[in-house]
Amino acid sequence: MLSVLRTASILTIFAVLGGGLVAFSYQATVQQIKTNEREALLRTLTALVPADRYDNDLFTDVKKIPSKLGVDNSLTIHRARKAGQPIAAILTPTVPDGYNGRINMLIAVDYAGVLIGVRIVSHQETPGLGDAVELRRSKWVLGFNGHSLLNPTESGWKVKRDGGVFDQFTGATITPRAVVKTVHKTLLFYWKYRDEIFALEDIVGH
Ligand SMILES: Cc1cc2nc3c(=O)[nH]c(=O)nc-3n(C[C@H](O)[C@H](O)[C@H](O)COP(=O)(O)O)c2cc1C
Repeated sequence: MLSVLRTASILTIFAVLGGGLVAFSYQATVQQIKTNEREALLRTLTALVPADRYDNDLFTDVKKIPSKLGVDNSLTIHRARKAGQPIAAILTPTVPDGYNGRINMLIAVDYAGVLIGVRIVSHQETPGLGDAVELRRSKWVLGFNGHSLLNPTESGWKVKRDGGVFDQFTGATITPRAVVKTVHKTLLFYWKYRDEIFALEDIVGH
């Protein structure tokens, strides 16, 4: 009888220890994934806005503004400043109407409203077709650099097939069409809310 009790106690102790270990390593993994995501985002952000152009922390100098452009109707914007002066904003819109659903983007725009860079963060577009929006697959996304609301004007913010200035991909017009539309909408948003975007209140930590 005693030995049964002892075995049961030992089993219980191991079960508790094992459960604790699993919970601990799960927490550690979740934390590591978050850290990795932050680092990946930071690498992209700093690649979009060269490090010598700002002296603040792009990660914590963040503003969220209600907008349909963002996930859950809230658009997250990272702000670059040097000596307190606004330099650039990195907006994080989502393309709602890619061929296979949503496409998450980073769009860096300088204070004057000129595009510094556009990157696709994640998407589910078809390999060999729509995935050419990804920089790993093609240089298409670099074609936005230097453009603004004045270059081209409104009617040019389309793919060439629709009478605009931006290239599409052979046999895959839907993806680039959707991305061009969202970049244009994001520039319109930036121009309309520029003062609010750089206003100092609401700095949130991540
Ligand atoms: C299996 C499959 C996957 C496709 N994936 C994409 C895609 O990721 N992006 C895209 O724009 N078109 C994709 N297409 C093509 C679209 O259905 C559509 O034909 C095309 O975007 C229209 O472009 P086009 O007018 O240049 O042919 C896919 C088609 C098929 C059959």
